Amino acid sequence: MDNHPIGIFDSGVGGTSIWKEINALLPNEDTIYLADSRHAPYGEKPTKEIVRLSIKNTELLLAKGCKLIVVACNTATTNAIDYLRKSYNIPFIGIEPAIKPAALQSQSKTVGVLATKGTLSSSLFHSTTVSHANGIKIIEQVGKGLVPLIEAGKINSPETKSLLVTYLKPMLDAGIDFLVLGCTHYPYLIPVLEDMLPTNVKIIDSGEAVARQTKAVLSKSGLLTSSNEKGKHQFITNADLRILESFLGDYSTSIKTDYQDF
Ligand code: DGL
Repeated sequence: MDNHPIGIFDSGVGGTSIWKEINALLPNEDTIYLADSRHAPYGEKPTKEIVRLSIKNTELLLAKGCKLIVVACNTATTNAIDYLRKSYNIPFIGIEPAIKPAALQSQSKTVGVLATKGTLSSSLFHSTTVSHANGIKIIEQVGKGLVPLIEAGKINSPETKSLLVTYLKPMLDAGIDFLVLGCTHYPYLIPVLEDMLPTNVKIIDSGEAVARQTKAVLSKSGLLTSSNEKGKHQFITNADLRILESFLGDYSTSIKTDYQDF
């Protein structure tokens, strides 16, 4: 048993979609969430810079006593998790686009993946695609511009909708029946996407799988909390606190949020 908090970081507010899944499955665990919004988007940065930012976030969470770290960012996972696992002596949970379940269920044998440039160009994404997508056509699309719009709270804006129309077109023309959301910011676009996609196209993301994996690793490592009380949560951002709070919705009243310069 270990009552230290779980650390979670993302390039910004997107990883709150993962935090919600973790909190739903592990309600007694304390958590500390870092939103590195000042340096978003990570997806357009070189690998070296993504690794440097991931180290900075990890060290901050370790200094706060975290027992395990969830890298709630596909871009940071695919570019930096190998380095983090080699460098620090705690478990790391990562997130990658859910190619495998989409490929297994696709009837049209054609799957779309919307993710950042950093994720789609990573060697980890390529090895996952090769091992899970046998015989399936994968239509990759960089979601350039979407993360800054989401970070600005412009989810339902005409700019966001117009980018999505452009990005979905080649996938729909190719006949996808699954759309994989390969960025933790994108689950916040689901209501907009559902209005745009034909009903036969299913949207899939990795949030629930990450929560299950977090629970399994905590349990296997003897790190689950012994507390029976609701967990305490701290959310830290280095940008606009109100934007972060808007992504927490109803939770924001029961959660401590802070601005910190990091
Ligand atoms: N949430 C990050 C991800 O899952 C966004 C990356 C970015 O900042 O570009 O990839």
